[in-house]
Amino acid sequence: MENQHLTRRSFIRGAGVAAAMGMGTIVSSRIYAQDDGTAKRKIVAVNCSPRRGQTTFRSLQECLAGAAAVSDRIETTLVELGGLAINGNLAAGIPLAEGEKDDFPSVAGVLSAPDVIGIVIGSPVYFGNMSSLCKAFLDRWMYFRQEGFVLSNKVAGVVAVGGSRNGGQETTISAVQSILMTQELVIVGDGRPRAHGGGTVWSGIEGGVEADEYGLASAKNLGRRIAEVGLMMHG
Ligand SMILES: Cc1cc2nc3c(=O)[nH]c(=O)nc-3n(C[C@H](O)[C@H](O)[C@H](O)COP(=O)(O)O)c2cc1C
Repeated sequence: MENQHLTRRSFIRGAGVAAAMGMGTIVSSRIYAQDDGTAKRKIVAVNCSPRRGQTTFRSLQECLAGAAAVSDRIETTLVELGGLAINGNLAAGIPLAEGEKDDFPSVAGVLSAPDVIGIVIGSPVYFGNMSSLCKAFLDRWMYFRQEGFVLSNKVAGVVAVGGSRNGGQETTISAVQSILMTQELVIVGDGRPRAHGGGTVWSGIEGGVEADEYGLASAKNLGRRIAEVGLMMHG
């Protein structure tokens, strides 16, 4: 598994297309049809916690491990939003203040790349819902719609991590899923054996997320399901 913990600088450097695109152009949403059955397919997870490398990050690692185990054609990337400037107001047409910057275009380029077949959104539970960073990020996805639904038909799922066992993981997943559906993404849950809404992880358990066997298994099963459906749909 190529599981990159992208620093802000490294992913901006790495996402050449994205860095160059500003907000004027975007790569096509079409999954390219290479039908010799060997082309690599990518699954990208986005950590929407402002805290980099913590419990949501760890849960997304597990999710991507589940995806990578499906096929050696699956490559994975984990993008950290923590520390990036994501200004949700831009979606409403409010311009940046002078000297202000916004990092959304770089992440947009990573997600919309044609070989990306699956997307995982990971959020900590904040008062029963997604983090404000997650909401600002998803508001910026207005851009994908305006550019012709460039995420259409990629497969997507959600991992929510809360400090309490029943702290709102499922309500958070539902809220994020509602937004994902406005992009014509194909939403999946964590599949068998439990087959519920997605990854539901409890960080407050003694021993932290590593001790939450059930939660990490749900994250891993979600990754597996995204990869399976993604390969089924896009080859
Ligand atoms: C503002 C705020 C609100 C929170 N609200 C909830 C909540 O409603 N339910 C819950 O289970 N945990 C809640 N938590 C705890 C976080 O979801 C939990 O610590 C999570 O593991 C943090 O993810 P991270 O380590 O990736 O940042 C809240 C934390 C913060 C900072």
